[in-house]
Amino acid sequence: MTTLDIIRLVETDIPDSVFLQAARACASIMGLRLPLAISLTLTDDPGIRQINQDWRGQDQVTDVLSFPSLPLSPQHLFHENNEDLDQAWDSESGAYFLGDIVINVHQARRQAGEYRHSLFREMTYLFVHGIFHLFGYDHMTKEDQTDMRKQEEQALQTAFFHTVSDEELLATAREARKQAYTPYSRYNVGAALLGKDGKIYTGCNVENASFGLTNCAERTAIFKAVSEGQRAFDAIAIAADQTAPWPCGACRQVLNEFAPRLRVLITWDEDQVAETTLDALLPHSFIGFEEDQHG
Ligand code: THU
Repeated sequence: MTTLDIIRLVETDIPDSVFLQAARACASIMGLRLPLAISLTLTDDPGIRQINQDWRGQDQVTDVLSFPSLPLSPQHLFHENNEDLDQAWDSESGAYFLGDIVINVHQARRQAGEYRHSLFREMTYLFVHGIFHLFGYDHMTKEDQTDMRKQEEQALQTAFFHTVSDEELLATAREARKQAYTPYSRYNVGAALLGKDGKIYTGCNVENASFGLTNCAERTAIFKAVSEGQRAFDAIAIAADQTAPWPCGACRQVLNEFAPRLRVLITWDEDQVAETTLDALLPHSFIGFEEDQHG
């Protein structure tokens, strides 16, 4: 979970949700699962010049400034024994405060013109750049700069531009099938669940000597996703060897909890493919009881 506090001193058409999506993508690709809070100020040339002068002694206009609240480094972000973490706890937002980012919308507009891309692209890039500084990235050496650029590009892709094709999802499910643990049935199943964050969560079936404790591939995938903070999904691909792997009743019910309109793609026998939706597989599904039935 990421909380964003945005102070808008200058008008832009870019809504809060865009910045939030970018922040979530940054946290997600760094594997951060703790609740995080970031403050973002959108200002103009005189505004950023003043902040640059007051806090860094530099009387200059710039595009973005980052003020980390924690001495993080990309190698050990939020190490469990990091005592600094406690200092960053913000009880009001219920999150660890990473720091402030200031973006100069005027400069962003000029740079968007120079690079011939949209203000959206430039603003989201500057914001993501600021976040990676909060994570402890810098660009002092050529190597560090390359690494930082790679992470920034991946975050922007994840947040806004990554679309996974059905072919990619099916291929990922076939690959996940190779991890199946099936000494009892020898029926190997792989699943690839596409989250609304653009990430693919994979799963395989994991059997047990006490047969009933076996976990299907689909539930392995969705439990992984939910435990990593993702609860919204677009599609699942399921792959098996010889027979069509329509999900079992238990998996339909568990998938229905989070994504009743999920697209379901199955593949078997190398290249056979079929498609449906979860509401077609589980009509009239159980949707739970009313709150006041608790008594
Ligand atoms: N299996 C799945 O992984 N998904 C399903 O939806 C149906 C069944 C697995 C469980 C078990 O390891 C094997 O297939 C045979 O039932």
